[in-house]
Amino acid sequence: MPKPPLTLYLAAPRGFCAGVDRAIKIVEMAIEKWGAPVYVRHEIVHNKYVVDDLRDKGAVFVEELDDCPGDRPVIFSAHGVPKAVPAEAARREMVYVDATCPLVSKVHIEAERHSQAGLQIIMIGHAGHPETIGTMGQLPEGEVLLVETPADVAKVGVRDPEQLAFVTQTTLSVDDTIEIVAALKARFPAIQGPHKEDICYATTNRQEAVKAIGSKADAILVVGAPNSSNSRRLVEVARRAGCPYSQLVQRAENIDWRALDGVRSVGVTAGASAPELLVEEVIDALKQRYDVTVEEVETAQENVEFKVPRVLRQAG
Ligand code: F3S
Repeated sequence: MPKPPLTLYLAAPRGFCAGVDRAIKIVEMAIEKWGAPVYVRHEIVHNKYVVDDLRDKGAVFVEELDDCPGDRPVIFSAHGVPKAVPAEAARREMVYVDATCPLVSKVHIEAERHSQAGLQIIMIGHAGHPETIGTMGQLPEGEVLLVETPADVAKVGVRDPEQLAFVTQTTLSVDDTIEIVAALKARFPAIQGPHKEDICYATTNRQEAVKAIGSKADAILVVGAPNSSNSRRLVEVARRAGCPYSQLVQRAENIDWRALDGVRSVGVTAGASAPELLVEEVIDALKQRYDVTVEEVETAQENVEFKVPRVLRQAG
């Protein structure tokens, strides 16, 4: 039987961002420099495939610093860590490398700067996400208030409405965040904040690209992990762009083929922590069942690159 035709809209940009690329390189270079095992506090990036691959190369993933022996190097994940973590590593005289994405570090510095100017900080983010924990942990407990929705803004109790600033998680939905920022400005007109918000270029670009394919395709597959904030946002953005069906898939084996029954076009994208190899796997799976015509939909070009920390660039 001939395969049914399928147009495959491939979003660009998709997949790895500069921060993820750098974090993975940091682990690989650390293993090369110091030998295995190298400890990594929290999944270096939220992707099982990446984590398993690095584990095979000699990385040991733990949740807390207490789980690391004092005589092995430890790396902090791309999401960032509360200030207390490197402080504790220094106290224990451990060798540590911070793989926090420079764009997350920028938010940390912003929060600190506002706090030093006497402002109380409101963070827009997801409770429990490591990036939120890391950013809130730049300041003493209770100094940063968290809001997740416009409804939270109505309830938040502040010290002084005239002395406030906001920061955001870098991987939020751009559209949701605009609403929350508007609610903050309506309730606290004096609130200070970044020029737009702290959502990074990679999040913004991937959301724009999925919007473009979401309005054309009958279904969208987002390659990414369930604990990846930016990947989950891509599923939501696709739905809101009018796509009737949008699914997060870790691997090709997770594709719900019944849900794709009768579709004539499928859009494919990937979260910032998902390797291109997994995108190719999904495309191959589609090709096995359909007569696929690939059309790349490019909404932006990226050429961002971050250097790894100096300690890894030095020999010895
Ligand atoms: Fe950094 Fe944005 Fe990637 S904050 S880790 S460039 S998703």
